[in-house]
Amino acid sequence: MSLISCENLSFAYEGVTVLQGVNFKIEQGDYLCILGENGAGKSTLMKGLLGLKKPSGGSVTYGEELQAKEIGYLPQQTPVQKDFPASVFEVVISGCLSGMGRRPFYGREEKERAARMIGLLEITDLRNRCYRDLSGGQQQRVLLARALCATKKVILLDEPVAGLDPLVTINMYKLIERINRKMGITVIMVSHDIQAATIYATRILHLGEDRQLFFGTKEEYRHSAAYHSFMDGGKAVHMWKKAAASESRKPAEEKGGTESRRE
Ligand SMILES: Nc1ncnc2c1ncn2[C@@H]1O[C@H](COP(=O)(O)OP(=O)(O)O)[C@@H](O)[C@H]1O
Ligand SMILES: [Mg+2]
Repeated sequence: MSLISCENLSFAYEGVTVLQGVNFKIEQGDYLCILGENGAGKSTLMKGLLGLKKPSGGSVTYGEELQAKEIGYLPQQTPVQKDFPASVFEVVISGCLSGMGRRPFYGREEKERAARMIGLLEITDLRNRCYRDLSGGQQQRVLLARALCATKKVILLDEPVAGLDPLVTINMYKLIERINRKMGITVIMVSHDIQAATIYATRILHLGEDRQLFFGTKEEYRHSAAYHSFMDGGKAVHMWKKAAASESRKPAEEKGGTESRRE
């Protein structure tokens, strides 16, 4: 049985459908990259996978070994969250809360786990610093450590490199790769970076304006209409840069292919 299966999934806000026709399966150890323009429904889908947003149709099914509370999550950042007045250690250990049931205080196990993740992400020297005083790259490492506190199996990362400079971005990608390859944790990452996706991910899910355009391995993706229509004439690079800068939607004639694949 797959770790997570999505069948004919759709989502709506106040009766207006924002995403439909989503069909894909994630196996243990996969590294899935979810690509799509701003507004395509990527964050909504992440919340659906976490059980935080109820689908308007279709289903999300977890494998026997997985529960929603065992999924680590790094949410898309907002300016308010960047200003959070807590220490690095407090932010990281809060990732353990979902696994603690009704127990109100952190125990030794949680403190050790948080310290281990802080060490793993090489932010031990920041442990007592205030989260809001850190650089963007340091903050994302803290949030990655927090997400890892919640899981031994799967992490969902919503635009973990948004706003980071190129060198910090590469270091972040390398960390995520290590978490996937060395720790065996399944990674589901939302990104605008089509080139990084085809380097690091094993599978790609590409969302169009309100529906799935492609799901398959990255090798299949490189031969797909969805990929080529975006890469054609450098339009893709332009488009993804535009999306990353949170600019307005691209013109209709640049829209990608329509193929959709189900495993
Ligand atoms: N809480 C909400 N209420 C109403 N509409 C929403 C809400 N959140 C997102 N949307 C809309 O749903 C669509 C998908 O949003 P989102 O999942 O954030 O896209 P993405 O993460 O791909 O940029 C957008 O049109 C957005 O405006
Ligand atoms: Mg989003």
